[in-house]
Amino acid sequence: MFFTSNKIEKFKTLPTPFYYYNTEVLTLTAKKCMEAANIISADIHYALKANHQDKIIQILSKHGIGADCVSKGEVEKAIKNKINPKKIVLAGVGKTDEEITYALQKDIASINAESIQELEIINNIASQLNVKANISIRINPNVDAYTHKYITTGLEENKFGINASDLPHILEKISTLKNIKLIGTHYHIGSQITDMSVFKTLCLKVNEIHRYLSDKKIKIEHINLGGGLGVNYTNPDEHLTPDFHSYFDVFNKFLEKYKYQQLHFELGRALVAQCGALIAKVIIVKKSFNKQFLIIDTGMNHLIRPALYEAFHLIQNLSKTDTQTSSLYDVCGPICETTDFFGKNVWLQHSERNDIIAIRTTGAYGEVMSSDYNLRGKPNIIFSDEL
Ligand code: LLP
Repeated sequence: MFFTSNKIEKFKTLPTPFYYYNTEVLTLTAKKCMEAANIISADIHYALKANHQDKIIQILSKHGIGADCVSKGEVEKAIKNKINPKKIVLAGVGKTDEEITYALQKDIASINAESIQELEIINNIASQLNVKANISIRINPNVDAYTHKYITTGLEENKFGINASDLPHILEKISTLKNIKLIGTHYHIGSQITDMSVFKTLCLKVNEIHRYLSDKKIKIEHINLGGGLGVNYTNPDEHLTPDFHSYFDVFNKFLEKYKYQQLHFELGRALVAQCGALIAKVIIVKKSFNKQFLIIDTGMNHLIRPALYEAFHLIQNLSKTDTQTSSLYDVCGPICETTDFFGKNVWLQHSERNDIIAIRTTGAYGEVMSSDYNLRGKPNIIFSDEL
């Protein structure tokens, strides 16, 4: 049970809105992920961009999970939470000199380079620091992830990575850069991927690239296959943890791995989405035109996914246990924007002012993307084991 009746009674006494993080669900997710990853002895790096709460990072790292970072701030956060720098990777299409310098000084496992210009910049900074930079090249495999177009990253038209056709040129360049050590390749094709055949296509592309590299006698020890595993937004209670087994099994079956190679994955959403729920209160039930608007005290300022990607999140009225009477509502926030809604024509139990509303599966890309828009303040944070 995601919400016990005990917890719901407590919610009624707390100021809203708040993000509620269920630590039992998080722990279970971490365990299941690591068990499944073990079948291919893969290293998991948690993509901090999904949620950078210290406690979340600590729980995941207790299970042996490292960090995937995209800024100096995230690397600092990972180190502050005692993640060994040798378990940290840094990616991103635009790293500043300060970020590269910091990563080199901390001697993290790998900097994932996304362009030829960046390789030169990293080489220069490494030479000034008199170190050799461990680099993976992010290769854009041109695989369609069949997900929302705004969270697709692995097509040639996307800004990310180096196109596979540029590889010969890149390799030639790397051979001239004295302060770069090429240790790996990196791929990330998109997020919220639910069709496992997409990962099979990725494996086949990666195999081709690695055969080419191996023919050139280039030894790649570190293969980073990115993140992207999707979660079930429509029925979270029946799918509290993603199907990690099917996911890693695809790589087990289709990826050609040489003995000296280590696989790495950078999962964000799959690890943390289901442990979070955004909890709010009904401010007013407004009847207008032929509609009922349920106006709640949180909006796109705290969860922007529906407005930005037309994302679906399950909405529940936790104050009502009676499942018999239900009505149709447009569930909206208080923000002065028409896109400020969480769902249209949502069936909910007959709802009233001050009822407690839960917006599910919001542990990933929820709180981290919240803003001060309309100056309504940031949501509070509550962990289940502290309540
Ligand atoms: N690695 C790289 C290089 C990434 O760019 C990302 C996500 C990940 C790993 C983690 O992906 P995940 O396992 O979470 O799918 N704000 C959007 C999602 C943006 C994802 C950005 N990159 C959303 O709310 O759906």
